[in-house]
Amino acid sequence: MAKIRIEKLTKIFGPRPKEGLRMLDAGKSNAEIREAGHAVGISDVSFEVEQGEFVVVMGLSGSGKSTLIRCLNRLNEPSRGHIYIDDEDITTYDHDQLLKLRQHKISMVFQHFALFPHRTVVDNAAYGLEIQGIEPEERRRRANEALELVGLKGWSDSYPSQLSGGMQQRVGLARALAVEPDILLMDEAFSALDPLIRRDMQHEMMLLQQRVKKTIVFITHDLDEALQVGDRIVLMKDGRVVQIGTPEDILKNPASAYVERFVENVDMSRVLTAQAVLQRARVLAFPGDGPRTALRKMNDDNYASLLVVERDYTLRGTISVEAASKAVQDGLKTIEPLIEETPSIPINEPLMSIIGILSEWRWLLPVVDENNKVLGVVTRAAVLTALAENTPDKTTSAEPESEPESEPERSDAA
Ligand SMILES: Nc1ncnc2c1ncn2[C@@H]1O[C@H](COP(=O)(O)OP(=O)(O)OP(=O)(O)O)[C@@H](O)[C@H]1O
Ligand SMILES: [Mg+2]
Repeated sequence: MAKIRIEKLTKIFGPRPKEGLRMLDAGKSNAEIREAGHAVGISDVSFEVEQGEFVVVMGLSGSGKSTLIRCLNRLNEPSRGHIYIDDEDITTYDHDQLLKLRQHKISMVFQHFALFPHRTVVDNAAYGLEIQGIEPEERRRRANEALELVGLKGWSDSYPSQLSGGMQQRVGLARALAVEPDILLMDEAFSALDPLIRRDMQHEMMLLQQRVKKTIVFITHDLDEALQVGDRIVLMKDGRVVQIGTPEDILKNPASAYVERFVENVDMSRVLTAQAVLQRARVLAFPGDGPRTALRKMNDDNYASLLVVERDYTLRGTISVEAASKAVQDGLKTIEPLIEETPSIPINEPLMSIIGILSEWRWLLPVVDENNKVLGVVTRAAVLTALAENTPDKTTSAEPESEPESEPERSDAA
């Protein structure tokens, strides 16, 4: 049984959603519908999320990600379609049933999590339990457990202002976890964090998920993040689902409609170069490394290959995890004989041609200087993300400000 089953879900914003639905059924475009004074939030979305699954929803700005996730706890009222949670259609829930659902079964974490500045960390984390009317001692205990889960043990009596942005976001996560929901909805929960902290949070989120096994629906703009954390990825475009698959499926099939769109709009991508997506090569192998050393280096960072360089960073090639494993079996002393010849690009290589190279080359692509010394690497995910972020492909030019994100919590409290 699916934990969440979404059936032909449509959300039209505006005063007369029925009229918007009629226009949709008549095959009108989102733009035409918008001209008539409605906005298509999502249209005919169907998919299922299994118990314990980590599903990532991706798509450009305005593609309907937040609308979708907010329909799942009915912060947005669906215009048509059904949402089954544990096989119960929550679109028919009345006010009391909804409150119960939000208080016990589904928690949500936002990008800008509004912590109460005058409450301690533990009281912030206990907020949801307080709403449930749980006794102070019990809620302190459960809030402390949740804080420990997110790595904030010992911070209970501090105030939010004493915490870094990343730590505050963890308090938000702890608040969501403290009510022990089955389902966690996360709307760009890590997007405001700086990249390094975001990486930590992604990593911890995965570890956390292994322990608590929630069903998670997680929104992000960031393909790297999606590939990192998702069991499956749902790609949205113009309110519709354009592709659903495992990270592997998505990467193997970069010609999906969504990715094609990124690449179609070539203007920016011609201007953008490798410079824009250059990453530090965090781990490198040397020709004299033993195969076990190479494997361990890969393992530590979860890489499927490593670049091999001389001590002065001159590029030699690539060693893959398969080759290194085989070298261990064959009892080779060093990886030297197994180094694969590797394409490289200069720092001013346009992203468009990098896409071409990456479709043929599955490992890390090195960026080199004029002396063939490695400056860094680019990854397929980084290139696609950069193209996506720089593609003028918003569905709306004048997008209405969405509601302040602390709003629903206040309404919960009411
Ligand atoms: N409250 C609202 N009133 C009217 N239109 C809305 C409202 N909220 C969203 N929309 C419209 O619905 C569409 C989907 O918006 P949504 O916020 O779900 O996109 P998103 O994928 O979350 O974008 P972002 O990445 O920018 O957060 C957009 O066209 C948007 O203008
Ligand atoms: Mg959004």
